[in-house]
Amino acid sequence: MNKYRFPSKFIWGAATAAYQIEGAWDADGKGESIWDRFCHTPGSVTNGDTGDIACDHYHRYQEDISIMRQLGLKAYRFSISWPRVIPQGIGRVNLAGLDFYDRLVDSLLAANIEPFLTLHHWDFPQALYEKGGWTNRDNLHAFADYAALMAKRLGDRVKRWATFNEPSVIAWDGYVSGEHAPGVKDEMLIAMQVSHNLMVAHGLAVQAVRGVDPDLEVGIVLTEWGVDPATDDPADIAAADHFWNISSTTFLHPIFKGHYHPEMLDALDSSKINLQPGDMSLIAQKLNFLGINSYSRSVISAKDGRLEHVPGSAYTDMGWEVCAPAFRRMLVKIQRDYRLPPIYITENGAAFPDIVSSDGKIHDQQRLEYLRDHFIQVYLAMQDGVDVRGYFVWSLLDNFEWGHGFTKRFGIVRVDYETQQRTIKDSGEWYSRVIASNQVDEE
Ligand code: FCB
Repeated sequence: MNKYRFPSKFIWGAATAAYQIEGAWDADGKGESIWDRFCHTPGSVTNGDTGDIACDHYHRYQEDISIMRQLGLKAYRFSISWPRVIPQGIGRVNLAGLDFYDRLVDSLLAANIEPFLTLHHWDFPQALYEKGGWTNRDNLHAFADYAALMAKRLGDRVKRWATFNEPSVIAWDGYVSGEHAPGVKDEMLIAMQVSHNLMVAHGLAVQAVRGVDPDLEVGIVLTEWGVDPATDDPADIAAADHFWNISSTTFLHPIFKGHYHPEMLDALDSSKINLQPGDMSLIAQKLNFLGINSYSRSVISAKDGRLEHVPGSAYTDMGWEVCAPAFRRMLVKIQRDYRLPPIYITENGAAFPDIVSSDGKIHDQQRLEYLRDHFIQVYLAMQDGVDVRGYFVWSLLDNFEWGHGFTKRFGIVRVDYETQQRTIKDSGEWYSRVIASNQVDEE
């Protein structure tokens, strides 16, 4: 049996996002987000599910922190709901909202769990959407003002700040597939403008947070899946490289090289995008860390493009291929191609349809094995020289999985949505042993 021992300072954590767990969608002066509006629009989300209540974490955060403590988590990645603290996105601040995050952070620290904060995990204020959303450059400054407000309030206790979670998903799922809020479809140009503007907003927020306290660590969370050729035929290899260059580099290149990848520029009609002087230097400011979310890979063939199904592979309940070695290859590639700051795996995990057994337990062996295999691949990537400092499992709790509603379960802790009862799954018990021993054993 192989044993993989992690560095003593390695940070083991779990992640969530505000809209997916908090509920309390209109409590105590909270404003409306685009996700509130989207979910309340019939036909948007599977089963008409909404995040109105979700895991009711807004009221149950103490219980959730005691579960984190039981698991032995060293850190907890969560996001702030912007309209909970600034209901209209700009202007009046909602003190009750700020108080909630104060209590959350204080309780985490009391439990010896490091808070790892994300400023924006998709629940954009509806009021700002109505003022042009991410295409209106005034709103980029609104984001920076919000970042400064939060840094002033929590910067004395929260050390690590991520600006955005997966900006690519905000742009593509929000404006091309329309599967996410605001549910706009087929607007490629808007999506490109939004993705550029999100990077500018990121740059402004980095400055805003550092303006409050230059010692705060600031970064961004990007989604990066490995890209592999379908065969070792040179045509497939070239197609996979091209796919990587026109999709996976969208944010990495501007942020870590200060310009778009040339193949990316060819692919997008850059003359139609509003790129202002100074944007690139704002975007490419030095970061303290890079967060990577990764769940699967894309397999590319020259003839068929991205394969829907890879023969012989297992798939999760999301329809995502399970392929842990691709995780290591992707990490090694980005470390080689860019000069990166330390990396945190800010999300990795798997949805499977759990069954509650007659003993009341959830024997989620597939999720456990998925996590184990991915931990090992990250360990191996670290041996290859990739500077990974921590790992946040997605997710602490089963939660509202965006357009899929409550039908996909990613938690290492089960949530019974009828009773709000939490039950640690086998994967959670196993994870707590990994954390306690700082070691992963390959059975
Ligand atoms: C990521 C999101 C996260 C969750 C997982 C499954 O793209 O950041 O909120 O939905 O996927």
